[in-house]
Formats: sequence, structure tokens, C-alpha cells
Amino acid sequence: MTKDKSLGLVTVATLTAVLAFSLVEIVSADGHEPYEAAFNKDGELVRPAGWREWVFVGSPLTPNSLNGGAAPFPEFHSVYIDPESWAHYKKTGEFREGTMFAKELTLVGDTAATSGIGFFNGKLQGFEIAHKDSKRYSDDTGGWAYYSFGHHDEPYNSTAAAMPTASCAACHTASAAEDMVFTQYYPILKNAKGAGDAAAGTGG
Ligand code: HEC
Repeated sequence: MTKDKSLGLVTVATLTAVLAFSLVEIVSADGHEPYEAAFNKDGELVRPAGWREWVFVGSPLTPNSLNGGAAPFPEFHSVYIDPESWAHYKKTGEFREGTMFAKELTLVGDTAATSGIGFFNGKLQGFEIAHKDSKRYSDDTGGWAYYSFGHHDEPYNSTAAAMPTASCAACHTASAAEDMVFTQYYPILKNAKGAGDAAAGTGG
């Protein structure tokens, strides 16, 4: 009796494991993993569904008030990396093929709060993606492409065509510290590079 019962449990456990494995397979195979790039029939990048769950890496700000009233990029830039590429970067110290960075723009709102004088987030103001795929994109852009899903509040556009090299990639080529990415401004990435599970805040 006891033996039968435990056999039954083993069978249930095995079936559950097989089912879970198959589900993972199905989700990966249909291309709807939020951090895998998807394109429409015109070759435009589809805005990745789950990007708000991605890993935050930095938030540079070049406000108008510190740039003579006319900063080229006056918003906060909140930068995120997709979770699979974050894990890969921690392990290998490199940006894998398929890496995506998201950059959400937020206008400066209030400049004073109970905590002091400063810059506080106002309205959301746009969404961009950088995507690495050396097979898909030319060497001129270091194997990356840059996409803008609108320079306005949500909702952002659902698809975007790759931006011309001169508009985006050229500046990244000229000044970014590592593989077209401005890692010099992301201490979270600098500290995590190749650190594996010892990276701060990730366990270990
Ligand atoms: C004049 C230089 C310059 C131009 C032009 C430029 N960028 Fe950037 N970009 C930066 C800098 C500096 C950063 C570092 C973080 C920040 O300030 O936002 C950055 C960061 C990014 C990031 C985060 C990942 C990374 O590489 O650090 C994305 C995504 C991005 N830019 C997209 C774009 C897109 C899309 C365009 C074109 C519409 C563009 N950039 C044009 C300078 C530039």
C-alpha cells in the first residue's frame, strides 16, 4: 500500500516535470518571450511586451536648466537591460547576441520637494530600444540598431523602424565605453560585469 502510494507520487512528480518542461519549450518556441526581439512583416521591431519587468541599470539626466535652456536630451533617461542579457553579462562580461536595452524618457517635473531643491520626475516622454544582432545589422553600427517608439507620453507606438546611423549609432560609436553601450555611466553594469552570482543584489 505504502509502496503503491509512493509510486503514484513519483509518477505525478514526473508528469509535472515533463509538463513544465514542455510549457517552457512552447513559450520559447513561439517567439513571444518578452525579451526576444520580434519583427513585423515590414521589418519593424515590435515593442517588447514585458519590458517594465527588465533590470534597471541607470538614470542619466541632462536638464535644460544646466544646458542653457536647450539640452539635446532634457529628460531623465531610465535605462533597462532584458533579464536574459543581464544574466549573460553577469556570467561572461559581454553583451550577448540579442541583447536589448530599453530607455524610457521622463520630463523634469517639480524642482523642489520636501526633501530639498532638485529634479523630480514629471511626465513620461518617450521610449527607445537598442538591439544587438550582428547578423541582422551592418558593421557600420557595430551590429546594433536603434529604435524610437515615440517622443511623447504613453501609449508608445507599438512598432518602430530602425533609425538612420547618423541619428543614433554614430554618437554611440564615437563615445560609448563598451560594445556601443555607455557602460561608463552604469555602475550597476560595471560592478556586475563577469561577477556571476556575486554581483550585488543578485544573491550569492
Ligand atoms: C549625441 C550622442 C547620442 C545620440 C545622437 C544618441 N544617443 Fe543614445 N545614448 C547617449 C548617451 C550619452 C547614453 C548614456 C545614457 C543616457 O545619457 O541616456 C545613451 C544611451 C542610450 C541607450 C541605453 C543603452 C546604452 O547604449 O547606453 C539607448 C537605448 C539609446 N541611447 C538609444 C538611442 C537612440 C534610439 C538614439 C537615436 C534616436 C540615440 N540613442 C542617439 C548618447 C547618444
